[in-house]
Amino acid sequence: MEKLTGLKKTKTAVFISGKGSNLKNLINFTKIKNTPISIDLIVSNTHLAKGLKFANQFKIKKKIFNFKNPENTEKKILLLLKKEKIKFICLAGFMKILSKEFIRKFNGVIINIHPSLLPKYKGINTHNRAIKNKDKFAGCTVHYVTAKLDSGEKVLQRKVKITAEDNPASLAKKVLKQEHKLYPAAIMKIFN
Ligand code: GRF
Repeated sequence: MEKLTGLKKTKTAVFISGKGSNLKNLINFTKIKNTPISIDLIVSNTHLAKGLKFANQFKIKKKIFNFKNPENTEKKILLLLKKEKIKFICLAGFMKILSKEFIRKFNGVIINIHPSLLPKYKGINTHNRAIKNKDKFAGCTVHYVTAKLDSGEKVLQRKVKITAEDNPASLAKKVLKQEHKLYPAAIMKIFN
């Protein structure tokens, strides 16, 4: 994987579909000294994504694409990314799968955060599955995005203990707290 280095901050887009707590956390991360990225664009597949409010709050450009025609939509997104000189994409709760073509054509690096200890539990309902299987640990993973869902090279991973009292909601809360530490740490690792 090509290393992203340099003194200038790398223009980054964050793709979301939901609450956007990871987005907010990444925006805070761009405010600290020595941060390697700036967030210049927020992309969503739905107007209903609550996280879009952070675009207004922090005055970041946002764009919503409905993905009714995925191929066409991806072409439009690629044009926008080029126009905005985006070189790095962070997927943060983005619920659409980007095509091989999109990944190949994007002139930069794409990473994702996933709420499980990959390669375990790709896809959705990760906490449910971990509890059902009586796992001792759950966790989160930041990985490079490739054409195969949740399968790209791992950047960093963090474990969370599952206790007898945990249910999927309580576990999701605990894991999310760790996600907010892991995502900035993974970005620092990529840029160092
Ligand atoms: C997180 O658990 C992330 O790992 C998963 O979707 C959730 C998004 O949460 N991919 P938020 O929208 O960042 O609050």
